[in-house]
Amino acid sequence: CRVLVLISGNGSNLQAVMDACDDNLRAEVVGVISNKPQAYGLVRAHQAEIDASCVIARKGESRAEYDERLQLKIDEYQPDLIVLAGFMRILTDELVSRYLGKMINIHPSLLPKYPGLHTHERALQAKEEEHGASVHFVIPELDAGPVILQAKVPVYEDDDAEQLALRVHEQEHAIYPLVVKWFSHGRLIMKDNKAYLDGQDV
Ligand code: GRF
Repeated sequence: CRVLVLISGNGSNLQAVMDACDDNLRAEVVGVISNKPQAYGLVRAHQAEIDASCVIARKGESRAEYDERLQLKIDEYQPDLIVLAGFMRILTDELVSRYLGKMINIHPSLLPKYPGLHTHERALQAKEEEHGASVHFVIPELDAGPVILQAKVPVYEDDDAEQLALRVHEQEHAIYPLVVKWFSHGRLIMKDNKAYLDGQDV
């Protein structure tokens, strides 16, 4: 399974996926694409001797124009699976539709709670007792695709957003590689807007 990872930043999830792929003969990270040239994830890719490219938004460029360029770059890698790992751009419907069932994302909340940004702050504000992360298939609607796997963490009374984010992040690094493994073993598919693992509705 040819895995392509899209990032914008630190790339700790990229690292977790690369490490797991080293031990999984059926999945290989064939490339990394960042929209930010300074993303630390590019250094991680380099260290792992994985091909990395940047697709940087140009001044005045529309979302559609950017995504056309992104699509060309994606297709150069001929991926079987596209892993969004902190890729901080909203994708056009066209791009998402092209890779439907082949693109997954990790989101730092227990979806459908808290789609969008600042999830940890919002969970704290709402005095949630539980928070976490979700891996889901990507559909055109933002953070709304079928959830594949979630990890929960407790929220403590004296938590700040940073502490909570750390706790969630740790879980992300466990669940994202697992989902990549399932996909690469052909155990995971999306059909009719639902995720199926081993033929069972997740
Ligand atoms: C993670 O919190 C992920 O849930 C969100 O972006 C962050 C990426 O972190 N989508 P990293 O770059 O993988 O460290």
